[in-house]
Amino acid sequence: KFPDLALTPPMGWNSWNTFACDIDEKLIRETADIMVSSGMRDAGYVYLNLDDCWHGERDADGFIHPDPDRFPSGMKALADYVHQKGLKLGIYSDAGDQTCGGKPGSNGYEYQDALQYARWGIDYLKYDWCNTENLSAHGAYRTMRDALRHAGRPVVFSMCEWGDNQPWLWAQDVGHLWRTTGDIINCWDCEVDHGTWSSWGIMRILDMQQGLRQYAGPGHWNDPDMMEVGNGMSADEDRAHFSLWAMLASPLIAGNDLRQMSPETLAILTNAEVIAVNQDELGVQAFKYKTEGEIEYWFKPLANKSWAFLILNRGDKVAEAEFDFRQEVVVDPDLPLTGNKYAAGFANSRYAIRDLWQQQMKGTTKTPLIVTVQPHSVAMYRLTRIV
Ligand code: GLA
Repeated sequence: KFPDLALTPPMGWNSWNTFACDIDEKLIRETADIMVSSGMRDAGYVYLNLDDCWHGERDADGFIHPDPDRFPSGMKALADYVHQKGLKLGIYSDAGDQTCGGKPGSNGYEYQDALQYARWGIDYLKYDWCNTENLSAHGAYRTMRDALRHAGRPVVFSMCEWGDNQPWLWAQDVGHLWRTTGDIINCWDCEVDHGTWSSWGIMRILDMQQGLRQYAGPGHWNDPDMMEVGNGMSADEDRAHFSLWAMLASPLIAGNDLRQMSPETLAILTNAEVIAVNQDELGVQAFKYKTEGEIEYWFKPLANKSWAFLILNRGDKVAEAEFDFRQEVVVDPDLPLTGNKYAAGFANSRYAIRDLWQQQMKGTTKTPLIVTVQPHSVAMYRLTRIV
C-alpha cells in the first residue's frame, strides 16, 4: 500500500448513509461546494467519497464506466472539479463479482479497475466484501492493494469486510483502514435486523471495538464505520457519537446531507479541539478506564504527555459523575506496565483541564472533577500537563 497516506485517521464525507444508491454528479458537486463554503474542508474533511451505485457497465475491453445518466460528464471531469476545490475524490468497489448494490465488482478486473481509477484521478478506494463466496479476504485485498500500487496514483485503501476475517491481525500492510463491524445506523443503542444481516446503533458499534485498540496506529486504522451525525439523532447523541469516534482514532467520514445541514450539526462536525484529539500524531486509540453503572470513563493518550478524557452517560437518566484524579492510577492497559510512557501520574503531576464542548478551562486535576452528564451524552476534556 502507499505508506505515506492516512498517518492520521482519514477525514471526509461519504454518500452512503444518507443517499444509498441515489447519487449523481450534481449531488457530488454541490457537496464539494459546501465542504468548502461551510469550512468543513479547512477543518480537515478532504475526502469526498462516492459509495455504491456510481457504476455503469464495462466496455468491450473490460474497462468500467460510470452510469451515463447519473454521471454524464464522466469521472475525470468530476475528479477535476473536486480537485480544483482542494478536495480529493473517493470511489467504491467490491472484491466480488458484484457490489452489495448489484453493480459490477472488481473480481478479475482488479488491475484494470485500479488503472481506470488512476486515469480518472481517484484518491481513495472503499473496497467492499459482498458476493465473495469463493475468495479469501487476505488474497483479495492484497490483490487490489497491489493493483493500486502498480497503477501508481497514491490511493487510500479502505477495507470493508466488516471484521469478518479479523483484518486487524493481518491487514496492517494491506489497507489504511478496515471496518471492524457491520453497518452503522442512526440510533443510540439498537439493532436493526435486515434478515441475513443487522445494522447497529452507536453504543452497539462502540462495544464491538473492545480488544482492537492495540492493532490501530498511523497508516492502519480500525474503522467503526462512517458517521451518522446530523442524520436524526439528538444533538447530545450526535456529540457523543462524534466524541467517541474522535477518541477511538476512527476515520471521521461524515454521512449527512450537507445541503440540509443545521448550524448545530456543522458545529459538532467542525469542533477543532475534538478533531485535534482524533488527529493527534501519536495515533493511539482510547481505552475504557472504568465503568460505574451507565457511566464510562475513557482516556486517550495524546502527544506531549497530554490526554483526552471522556465521560459517557449511556443511560436514560441525568447522571452526576465525579472523578478524583489524584486517587486514580491511569495506565494504558495494552502497553507493558514497566516503563509505560502512557501512565498518568495524577498524584504527582498536575494537568489543566479544558472542556472541549463548552470550550472553557475547568481548573486542574488537583481537585475532583464533578460534572452533570445528560442522558446519551458525553463530557469531553483535554488534560495538559502543567507540573
Ligand atoms: C455494505 C457496506 C456499506 C455500504 C454498502 C453499499 O453494506 O458495509 O458501508 O458500502 O455495502 O452497498
